[in-house]
Amino acid sequence: MMKAPSLVLLWGVLWLCCWAAEAEYMAYKDPKKPMNARIKDLMGRMTLAEKLGQMTQLERQNATAEIMREYSIGSVLSGGGSVPRPQASTQDWINMFNDFQNGSLSSRLGIPMIYGIDAVHGHNNVYKATIFPHNVGLGATRQVIHSYNEIIL
Ligand SMILES: *[C@@H]1O[C@H](CO)[C@@H](O)[C@H](O)[C@H]1NC(C)=O
Ligand SMILES: *[C@@H]1O[C@H](CO)[C@@H](O)[C@H](O)[C@H]1NC(C)=O
Repeated sequence: MMKAPSLVLLWGVLWLCCWAAEAEYMAYKDPKKPMNARIKDLMGRMTLAEKLGQMTQLERQNATAEIMREYSIGSVLSGGGSVPRPQASTQDWINMFNDFQNGSLSSRLGIPMIYGIDAVHGHNNVYKATIFPHNVGLGATRQVIHSYNEIIL
């Protein structure tokens, strides 16, 4: 049977091991830190490849969760007509987005991606979405809209 001091020592060693195995503190993930400190911390951790990945935007059809994770891609775009599948439902869009975002969040630094959509006249990539005139068409009505209230009145 172990004597009390040995047990204390054993617990101490175990505690130290668990503490060391815990994830390293990342200042850039700390919302209480000032923005500049977070940016500086993150930039200091990024490799050149990760910086290049963050500045890269992939077209939706060329993105996969694995690519997002492996290359730390910064953003994905649905260009005109680029949809998850023909007549895609809202759930199809959500699933696609979550899949890409999960890949990004699983990358070494876990930087979330930005998703862009070529929606110049309403969310025109979405099946059955309301299509508005292009901005040039709205401008051509010659009506100057001064406030949001004027639109809904
Ligand atoms: C992107 O996807 C399109 C359509 O699948 C394909 O034609 C094109 O070769 C891909 N581009 C790259 C760089 O993989
Ligand atoms: C998210 O990504 C991780 C790592 O690639 C994977 O193990 C997990 O199954 C994914 N989860 C979802 C909901 O796709």
